[in-house]
Amino acid sequence: MAKPISIEVWNPSGKYRIVSTKSMPGTRWIRLLTEQDCRVEICTEKKTILSVEDILALIGNKCDGVIGQLTEDWGETLFSALRRAGGKAFSNMAVGYNNVDVNAANKNGIAVGNTPGVLTETTAELAAALSLSASRRIAEADQFMRAGLYDGWLPHLFVGNLLKGQTVGVIGAGRIGSAYARMMVEGYKMNLIYYDLYQATRLEKFVTAYGEFLKANGEQPVTWRRASSMHEVLREADVISLHPVLDKTTYHLINKESLSFMKKDAILVNASRGPVIDEAALVEHLKANPMFRVGLDVFEDEPYMKPGLAELKNAIVVPHIASASKWTREGMATLAALNVLGRIKGYPSWPNPNLVEPFLDENSAPPPACPSIVNAKDIGLPVAKL
Ligand code: GLV
Repeated sequence: MAKPISIEVWNPSGKYRIVSTKSMPGTRWIRLLTEQDCRVEICTEKKTILSVEDILALIGNKCDGVIGQLTEDWGETLFSALRRAGGKAFSNMAVGYNNVDVNAANKNGIAVGNTPGVLTETTAELAAALSLSASRRIAEADQFMRAGLYDGWLPHLFVGNLLKGQTVGVIGAGRIGSAYARMMVEGYKMNLIYYDLYQATRLEKFVTAYGEFLKANGEQPVTWRRASSMHEVLREADVISLHPVLDKTTYHLINKESLSFMKKDAILVNASRGPVIDEAALVEHLKANPMFRVGLDVFEDEPYMKPGLAELKNAIVVPHIASASKWTREGMATLAALNVLGRIKGYPSWPNPNLVEPFLDENSAPPPACPSIVNAKDIGLPVAKL
């Protein structure tokens, strides 16, 4: 017999059984569920990534909804098991849901939630931090210091790139890409070039207005341009940050060929999804171009890095922590819990996933709606009126 999975239980007599495959930050999410007659079971297994078999064991014979993680493989096996257990809802505690087979969820009538809005600024800040760290060689310099190698100031010591007046390139100017662009333009007075299928009107207006403000104050104005191809951005930008969703069209968007278009001393940042970059090609490019730098939050085969990457000084690597601020992670847990609760309670889906503040206000009850259900239309979930 398979070893039972260890769990922690809140409100054991609750009518609805909600499983969370991981312990999540904060306690509001637990309170919101237990106050609504939910029994909350949190998996406490030490294992970081749960297998499909582990999650099947957690779902068991009766389960109303599951809060899961982006490391899990949510496909037909899990959605049909959840349906058989009487379940109606699954929510990723993430904005990205490339780990979820939405068609399989539709087939089983399961609502799929995600957690947009609450992680926009936090994720953009990490992309900005990687851009800064790469341009000023912070990680390398930190290692040098700790190794006891510093024996005095030198004119050439860790010379990097000045961002002011350079061009920041954004591939995918949605919520996070636009927030990152604003930070780099306003904070470091960089010019912007972006590529997106949709026009980022608010972003364009912001850069125009900021440019006018600088000009009126006797400074060089910042500029923006919407590129007609991704390659235009790769060719022209000094710092490039990737913010597309991962799908068939963006898999290995950055590969040997696209890397060859970039400036030899460009900086590339990825806080979207690992497979957007052909990581083996990137390792070769970094080896051949020591002035080229990269800041990576995500990897092609997480939790692994492609051979050679860890040894390269021109790569900064962090373990998928872009959304890891306390406020954001607690908010993500709340939104994921409310997605599942809302579906169980028969609430409609919220009309604007950019406007999730009403769900995050600690001092008032959340609206009677599911904050963000990606397949609301497919499963016939009505939309709430604002
Ligand atoms: C994190 O990577 C997320 O998609 O929320």
